[in-house]
Formats: sequence, structure tokens, C-alpha cells
Amino acid sequence: RSQMTVKELADAMDRPTQHVFDCLEQINFAIRSKRDSYIINKLDVITKIVQLSGFRYQMGGPQEIDFEKLELELDAKDDSRSKRPKPQATHLIRRPPVVTIMGHVDHGKTTLLDSLRGSHIVETEFGGITQHIGAFNVKDKNRMITFLDTPGHAAFSMMRSRGAKCTDIVVLVIAAEDGVMAQTVESINHAKSTGCPIIVAINKIDKVNEAQINRVKQELLKYELIPEEMGGEVQIVPISALKKTNLDVLKEEIWTQAEIMELKGDPKGLVEGYIIESTQDLHKGKLATVLIQRGTLMKGDYLVAGKTWCKVKYIYDENSQNLQKASLSQAVQIMGWKDLPHSGDEVLQVDTEHRAKEICDLRHKKEMLVKQKQDLEIIKKKRAEHD
Ligand code: GTP
Ligand code: MG
Repeated sequence: RSQMTVKELADAMDRPTQHVFDCLEQINFAIRSKRDSYIINKLDVITKIVQLSGFRYQMGGPQEIDFEKLELELDAKDDSRSKRPKPQATHLIRRPPVVTIMGHVDHGKTTLLDSLRGSHIVETEFGGITQHIGAFNVKDKNRMITFLDTPGHAAFSMMRSRGAKCTDIVVLVIAAEDGVMAQTVESINHAKSTGCPIIVAINKIDKVNEAQINRVKQELLKYELIPEEMGGEVQIVPISALKKTNLDVLKEEIWTQAEIMELKGDPKGLVEGYIIESTQDLHKGKLATVLIQRGTLMKGDYLVAGKTWCKVKYIYDENSQNLQKASLSQAVQIMGWKDLPHSGDEVLQVDTEHRAKEICDLRHKKEMLVKQKQDLEIIKKKRAEHD
């Protein structure tokens, strides 16, 4: 019906009339008087109250919503990495390491990333202009390292909060002149909590003497980071990010560590990965950087991330070079998203556009359901306060 009194509506739902007034307040619907005989003459307001009360509006009268059942139904139709068949061991191949650089403020993280990235640009024959895509790949013969370029802590927090694993190895930058500082300790704890091995880069060695470098090594013992030369397992590389000293040694150490870890991935099957970052480009539209962790990404593939999807139109590297495909551990920028996905969103390839849209639709519905459930909790709490 398109017109009901507060009392009629309350009775239909088997709730006290005060509940209906609470709902009206919740949706900011101004009423002149709080009387049971007050007439609500807008169907959308009635429907909204019915929904807010945890019911479905139906012809025969309101029907109670079973949130748990509905959520389970939606989840069952949705897709996620955990539900997909695990790759067969015989499909696995070696893959490059993904590295995050962390360290205390001003100890030289950005300078190190720039030097690593810069040395790489000079090597490319195109000499393209680097753009910030949240990650970059350093190549050397047949070997590659992917550096995550988002501030180390952000990448780690994202991984932790979403249970995502985007990094294999942490490079901890410590300025030789300052030694271990507050955020150095924080970085060590972050790395340890995710189980990533740590390679220590003692930076700014162009400014200090040998004794100061040794002092930093001594300090590290307190944090159970025992240098190899002292019988431990931690690789320590003295570098100058600014003067580009020993960067090759650092890269070698990363490859050696990766070798020990026997990092593997499945180059076949549907693509899986994570969104590193996304951006709206004036000319190219919606772009997102994706770290590929499974499969081989090709133009024309369908991807889903969060509540949006994409038909891969173009694949770019950090030098704006147009790629035909992207493989394991590579971070590439993808054009073709309907909306901007969020950092840390799981990326899944699906077979068809229809399936991509279906998954987004399911996730929208789930979000609405959760919202409705929360609204209902608020109303219930308010009622409890009244009583
Ligand atoms: P935040 O992003 O603020 O946390 O700092 P950061 O860790 O990125 O440090 P950044 O790279 O901005 O370097 C801080 C300062 O140290 C800059 O003035 C750099 O030029 C300087 N610096 C970095 N590496 C070296 C180095 O190897 N030698 C010397 N002498 N200076 C360095
Ligand atoms: Mg910086």
C-alpha cells in the first residue's frame, strides 16, 4: 500500500510504534507529530523503513530478512583466489623476486629507488620517460627484480590488512651516520611479521668511515639481525645511493636471496594478482598497476578487482612502453578499467565479460546488504537506549 499509519506499519512488522519513529529519524524524514495515527503517504519511505527493519517488502506483507543466509548465497556465487584450484607442482616455474624498500625517514629510500630506476632507464634503448606506477622492474640479462615503489610502510600495511602477500624480500635502508632509529625498528618488525627475509643496505657510506659502518652492524645484533660475517644469515651491503656505489652488489644479493627462496609461480591458468595503485589519466582514462602473481596477462583479457572490472586494452611498463603481455612478478599498468580499483584489491581473470559484470554485481549487492545490516544495528541500539 502507498499509505499507512505509523501504527499499521509497526503492527505489520510486529514492532513497537517507537521503532517506526526511530526509522523515520534514521532516514531524516521530518514528521510533524509523534502520533500513532500519523500517516506515512510515501511508498519509498514505507519501503525504506521495512528494509531498515530487516524485512523484505513484499506484496503479502513484510518478510523478515535472513542476512546470514543471503550473505552466504552471494559469497557462494562470488569468486576468489582461495576458491580456485591450486596450480599443479609440474606447472610451476622460477619467477623474479618482488622487493620492498623500507627504512627510517631521510635514510635514503627514495634516492635508492631513483638510482636503481635511473640506472635501468639508461639501459633501455627507448629511453622512455619514467612515470610513477607504484612499481618498476629492473632487468639484467635474463634476470629481473620488481621493486615496489609505494612507500614501504603503505605497501606493508595494505598487505597485512588484506592478508595479501605482495613482497618476497625487504631491503632495509639504514643511514650509516644515524644507525638504527625508531622507524628502522618498525620496519624490522613489519618484515618479521610477514616472514620476508631482510637484506640490510647501510647507506651514505660516502659520508662515513669504516668504524661507523661497523657500529651499525653491532646495533643490528640487538634486533636478531646477525650479519653473515658474524655467523648469521643476514646480508649486509654498504652502499651510497647518491653516488650509486655498490648498487650492483645489492642487486646480486637480492638475486642470491631469491635463488635460496626458490620463488616459483604458475605461468598458465587464469591471471591472479594485486592492485598496487590506480590513477585517472587525462588521456588514457582509468589506469591501474597490477602485480601479476599467476598466469600470463594478455590484451583482451577480462579482469575483476573489488567492485570493478576491465577488458585489458593496453599493457604498459613504467617507461610507458606498450607490452603485448605481462608475466609472473611483473608489475604493469593496465588500461581499460570501468572504475578505479583500490590498492590491495585482489585481481582475478575471468573468462567472459558476462562473468566479470556478474561478480561486480554480486559484490555491490553484498555491500548493500552489509549497509542495511549496519543500519539495522544502529536502530536496535537506539531502541535499547530508549528502553
Ligand atoms: P623519506 O621519504 O622522507 O622517508 O626519506 P628517504 O628515506 O626517502 O630519504 P631520501 O632519499 O629523500 O634522502 C634524504 C637525504 O639524504 C637527501 O638529501 C639525499 O640526497 C640524502 N642521501 C640519500 N642517500 C645518500 C647517500 O648515499 N649519500 C649521501 N651523502 N646522501 C644521501
Ligand atoms: Mg622518500
